[in-house]
Amino acid sequence: MPPTTRSDISLRVNGETHALTVDNRTTLLDALRENLGLTGTKKGCDQGQCGACTVLADGRRAVSCLQLAVAAEGADITTVEGISDGEDLHPVQEAFLELDGYQCGYCTSGQICSAVAVIREHAAGWPSAATGDVRPDAEPPPLDAAEIRERMSGNLCRCGAYPAIVRAVGRAAEQTNAGQGAERTNAGRAAVGLGTAEESKVTA
Ligand code: FES
Ligand code: FES
Repeated sequence: MPPTTRSDISLRVNGETHALTVDNRTTLLDALRENLGLTGTKKGCDQGQCGACTVLADGRRAVSCLQLAVAAEGADITTVEGISDGEDLHPVQEAFLELDGYQCGYCTSGQICSAVAVIREHAAGWPSAATGDVRPDAEPPPLDAAEIRERMSGNLCRCGAYPAIVRAVGRAAEQTNAGQGAERTNAGRAAVGLGTAEESKVTA
């Protein structure tokens, strides 16, 4: 029997399950764009360098050009088309619109997916390279411009819209976290696949 170069897979994207037959070498990015017609996710470098292809896989950021579609089976994938709640834009999308967080828009879908995850990661207490005190029981740092720039550093913008992008992410974080602060809530940690804060202290 000749070796097979194609696979039947099932991809769960934006809450819908799709049955596909793909070449085993097909990236998740190409499967989204070419097989499912979800062209909101952009191809920039196709080498994991620019972040234009960022999607969420089980709530965490993933550059879809570096992941094979066959390896994405079983994951819950969210693309920019699935970020809004129907006609209601996500706070990140609203902030990008209101604060002009883009120029040509090519990087924007990746920026938005990344920003959604950044806000969750920060609320869950994840440190970044810009975080001064990374001990598990330290107070979480504010999501200031330095933190946003570091956490969004995997998403390049060739138009240089960075100042507005930073403002937009900050605005969205304020709105998303209003009333709950940036506490290391167990719910927030669970949303990004971490154990409880107490568990973290034990294992740190
Ligand atoms: S297209 Fe995937 S990181 Fe650039
Ligand atoms: S808005 Fe043009 S590349 Fe970012």
